[in-house]
Amino acid sequence: MVKVNKNITDIKTPPIDYFNNLLRIKSNNKFKSISFGHGIPMYTPNNYYKFSKNPLLDDSSYKYTEIRGDQRIRQYISTKLNSKCSFPVKSDNLIITSGANSAIFKSLFLQLQYGDEVIIPSPVYFNHTMAIEMIGGTVVEVNSIAESGFQLNLKGIQNKINSKTKAIIINTPNNPTGATYNNDDMKILAQICDKKNITIVLDYTYEDFSYNLNYNPLASFEHLKNLIIIGSFSKTFGITGLRLGYICASKSIIEDLCKIQDTISICAPSISQNILLQLLFNENDAIKMNFNSASNSRDKLIECLNDSKILNWQATNGAFYAFIKIPNTENTWDFCEKMIIEYSLLVLPGSIFGEHWKSYIRIAYGAVSPKEIEEGVQRLYNQISKTT
Ligand SMILES: Cc1ncc(COP(=O)(O)O)c(C=O)c1O
Repeated sequence: MVKVNKNITDIKTPPIDYFNNLLRIKSNNKFKSISFGHGIPMYTPNNYYKFSKNPLLDDSSYKYTEIRGDQRIRQYISTKLNSKCSFPVKSDNLIITSGANSAIFKSLFLQLQYGDEVIIPSPVYFNHTMAIEMIGGTVVEVNSIAESGFQLNLKGIQNKINSKTKAIIINTPNNPTGATYNNDDMKILAQICDKKNITIVLDYTYEDFSYNLNYNPLASFEHLKNLIIIGSFSKTFGITGLRLGYICASKSIIEDLCKIQDTISICAPSISQNILLQLLFNENDAIKMNFNSASNSRDKLIECLNDSKILNWQATNGAFYAFIKIPNTENTWDFCEKMIIEYSLLVLPGSIFGEHWKSYIRIAYGAVSPKEIEEGVQRLYNQISKTT
């Protein structure tokens, strides 16, 4: 029998598939199914772009690219990052990866040895936790303060820093809270990490989903010395299935990252890179469509939650998530199952983003129309009113 590494067996499986299957199998046929579960945007390239070249007919789609990925894509990202960073970013600082998740794993694998600690503001994006634990590192969660709109708990973070702290993962705009961390706090954190030689791994997957249009967490950093930026093309372009993301890091560690990239995936999928090459120069159309639809759904969500008077959401300014406390409910797991079985509505329990958040649910509104938001919130309201 294959003996599985304990680091893997000890990790909890995220229950997203469980809830998706429950919706498929157990939903109440009196209601049309609505999913507030998927963290995806509304539109794919078929909605905003007419392909002029067929990537299937291009031989390069079937061959490896450079380990670091297509030079033209890296050039494009460096231009985009240079418009936001005070330090220069060159294409030599970049590696195209198969999605941000793989970029995060590779960046942590680069740094962590057994027992090293990584601080993550909680609630956490569970794949961050899983990556650290698989590698043999230790996760140190620092609870954000809900009343502050889930802003960074700088004091809490500082208290947890010790000689074993290797990195801090910052995800802004945040999944699952939608928080965009204050620039001043980010600046302070960057200074602390500089002084203590701790890496900030900045998961910037929701870069293009900020409702405060001047938001720019990259402005808080003066150099790439202790910073690794993780980006994704999944949400901006509506291409979650193409599996494309990137790592931006100091040149001094790019060679070592290339060793990991080569061993795990050699390169990001070539056909996906060829598709992206056509989409890149229509990025504004992609952003406009996906951002505008998320923004409309967010407006509707704010309106419906205000009307409900039972569910309080101090609207956060980014991504497409709302993290909301359910009144009179200690653990929302059963509540989420009930919402599917009785109302055919999928919301995710807060506990999958950290034990502390058991009384919360996550609503993902990126791929849900305002009409479905209205209907979904009504169903939540109907269930909650039974217990209040
Ligand atoms: C915070 C965060 N990071 C990374 C990812 C994964 O992105 P990708 O599709 O580029 O792997 C997600 C996906 O939902 C996410 O929410």
